[in-house]
Order: sequence, then C-alpha cells, then structure tokens
Amino acid sequence: MIIAIDGPAASGKGTIARRLAAHYGLPHLDTGLLYRATARVLLDRGERLDDAERATAAARGLALTDFDEDLLRGAEMGDAASVVGAIPDVRAALLDMQRNFAARDGGAVLDGRDIGTVICPDADAKIFVTAEPETRAQRRALELAGRGEKVDFTDVLADIRKRDDRDSARSSAPLVAAADAVRLDTTALDIESAVAEAVAIVEARRKG
Ligand code: CDP
Repeated sequence: MIIAIDGPAASGKGTIARRLAAHYGLPHLDTGLLYRATARVLLDRGERLDDAERATAAARGLALTDFDEDLLRGAEMGDAASVVGAIPDVRAALLDMQRNFAARDGGAVLDGRDIGTVICPDADAKIFVTAEPETRAQRRALELAGRGEKVDFTDVLADIRKRDDRDSARSSAPLVAAADAVRLDTTALDIESAVAEAVAIVEARRKG
C-alpha cells in the first residue's frame, strides 16, 4: 500500500505521515529533506540557490550522509529548499529516488508537495493536509523554539505565506491537491485526532 501525504508547511503532514507509517508498519520518506539537503549542499559550497545547473548536480549527488535532520530542519533551510524545489531539473533529479522508495515491497508512506500528483499518482490513498496559516505559524514557531532557534511569530507567519505562494505558483509540480486526494483540515485538531482521521481516510480507501 502506498500512502501519499501532501500539504503546505507546518500543516501537520510530517507528523501524520510518520504516525501512519508506524500504524501500518511501512517505511516513511519525508521528501522535503531531499530538497533541504540539496539546498544545504549549495549553501555549504557558497553557491547560489537559483543556479539550476549546480543545484541539479547537487540533487543528483545527494548521499545518505546529507540527511542530518538536525542541520536541515531550521527555518532558513525550509526557505532555501523551496528555492531549489522550484527548479524543474532538480525535481527531475530527485524523481527516481522517490519512486524507488515508494516501490518497495509492501509499500511506503511519502510526504511532500507533489506525491499524489507527480511522484505516486497511483497511490492507494492520498491525503491533502491543510490548516489556517496562523495555526501553522504557531506550530512552526513552537517547533523552532524547541530547537533553540530565536523566533518571532510575525516572521514565521510571513515565511509560511511566502513559501505557500512560491510553492503554489511554480510551474513545475506546484503545491496542489490531487483530484482524488481527501482533504484533511487540521486547524482545530490535535495530533491524536488528526492521526485518527487520517487512519479513517486510509481505511475507507482500502475498503472502497
Ligand atoms: O515542514 P515543511 O513543510 O516546512 O518543509 P518541507 O516539507 O521539508 O519542505 C521544504 C520545502 O521543500 C517546501 O517549501 C517545498 O518548496 C520543497 N518541497 C517540494 O518542493 N516538494 C516536496 N515533495 C517536498 C518539499
């Protein structure tokens, strides 16, 4: 069974994807890490994030050692990831890695922006997770503060809105719900309720 989870920043998609993976005993890939790691390689080399050729080479050359979540989870890297994520050749370079992960025996859970639309259009269950921008900014601010980052709510909200716009407006694999995705608005839901709803959506798909 392949489960595709998409949605904007801090909507809860990562937590839901991790919990679904544990629930069904499936491996999980947070595809945002691929874009974050690509951006990190460029920044480490002092290269421009919008240099399509170098960004594509960085994406092709990603190694497992590039996925240090501690280094990649910061606010700056989220923004940088959305710059490299808008480059079509970067997305193409990361396609096979994601499809191979999804093709494992037994299936997988993947979360990102284009899993249901581009990476796994034939996924067994697709969920598009949303929440109001202010709620997402509150969650992200708490998360970043927990990492010891200095946070200002207004800045976090502005970053989230900027990324929503950039991710939705890009021509290559924009952030959009697949036609057959079920929407899950987590604005008023705590984690347990959101996960319970996600499991119910997957179960309904399996039976249907
Ligand atoms: O947790 P959050 O949503 O803030 O970040 P993320 O999922 O790690 O994604 C960071 C950025 O990577 C996004 O704003 C997207 O621009 C890009 N991304 C993408 O283009 N496609 C994906 N499948 C995953 C992430």
